[in-house]
Amino acid sequence: MKHIFKNIKELIQVREGPVSALVGEELKRLPTLKNAYLLIEDGIIADYGTMDNCPDVAVDRTEDATGKMILPAWCDSHTHLVYAGNREGEFIDRINGMTYEEIANRGGGILNSAKTLQKTSEEELYQQSKVRLEEVIGSGTGAIEIKSGYGLTMDAELKMLRVIQRLKENYTIPIKATFLAAHALPDQYSSDKRAFLRLMLEEVLPIVAKERLADYIDVFCEEGYFSVEDTELVLEAGKKFGLTPKIHVNQFNAIGGVQAGIKYDALSVDHLELIRKEDIASLQNSATMPVALPGCSYFLGIPYTPAREIIDSGLPLALASDFNPGSAPSGNMHFVVSAACIKMKMSPEEAINAATINGAYAMGLENEVGSISKGKKANLLLTKPINSYGVLAYAFGTNHLDQVYLAGEKWN
Ligand code: NIG
Ligand code: FE
Repeated sequence: MKHIFKNIKELIQVREGPVSALVGEELKRLPTLKNAYLLIEDGIIADYGTMDNCPDVAVDRTEDATGKMILPAWCDSHTHLVYAGNREGEFIDRINGMTYEEIANRGGGILNSAKTLQKTSEEELYQQSKVRLEEVIGSGTGAIEIKSGYGLTMDAELKMLRVIQRLKENYTIPIKATFLAAHALPDQYSSDKRAFLRLMLEEVLPIVAKERLADYIDVFCEEGYFSVEDTELVLEAGKKFGLTPKIHVNQFNAIGGVQAGIKYDALSVDHLELIRKEDIASLQNSATMPVALPGCSYFLGIPYTPAREIIDSGLPLALASDFNPGSAPSGNMHFVVSAACIKMKMSPEEAINAATINGAYAMGLENEVGSISKGKKANLLLTKPINSYGVLAYAFGTNHLDQVYLAGEKWN
């Protein structure tokens, strides 16, 4: 099956050869081809170039993209898309003045989501989650990571991971699964955190590994949740089962989670709304990707991750949605890219790089997706006629997409 796009106004994020994480100044450069063609063969990018070199090959389908642009679909490396119900009640409580912390302290927050999820059947959880997955694909996500962590019991954690597994089987979009072993402490363990960690690490983790239900391991390293010591315990256990860390750190307090992540070769450290000089220095000596989640900062009204400080220190940065019911109930990556430009002072080039190639790196998919490169999956976004790619970030809230393609096929 061959398929060619012709007369593409601008083909964005064109990279030859192996592509890895972009750091510092590299993020400023977004390579494009104007007046281009793109050839897809069996769902894979086979060739591209400018129209004056367009090959005269027999194809099954030709699409004219006059006035429109093509870019790789967004790579969303941090979501909690599998959850049950919602937390609209807490949203109203926050509007009326309560803080996220106060809500969590009265038993709301993650524990509230866990209570609902524990009562929801696996089939119902799958049905609710698939609606959200289809929604984010429709809005341009072409690779995604999904976490457990709203189960907090053996059965409910495994239920979440099995739902992620089923999504992996039923959708062509690459999905990575993360076992979020320590997200919050259930009430019945409030005086014995070690017992909860033993349950998750000695009983649940071996099953997760045996049934190959997760690619990564995660922990919420935060005051009032899990300490650096707890974090190291989780990451050490994950390592024994071959699970690489991707962890929640520095959301409300910087307590050393960055260093714990790096010590265990974390693929990414995510949130970083607060970042200390020593965190930047540690990241400079690592291959760990810092990940910013501006949708969470927007929704909770907390500081935005200091992208300028991170990038200007020569570090890489990825952008992700954090799609979850409590702190970021949206998986819309266009919004994430816009917010990164508007609130974090990233340029459109930096934000697009951070939400494609660097997002792919943050889930180990940099050889599969995230750029227009020969041999990569044709998970693509075809825009409506637009003036420049900067409009994607500038005109926030508008749907700029004409069509999403997964493996070269039209999505819906
Ligand atoms: O990434 N910070 C920890 N976990 C999630 C949200 C938790 C919730 O409120 O449900 C996050 O923001
Ligand atoms: Fe998260």
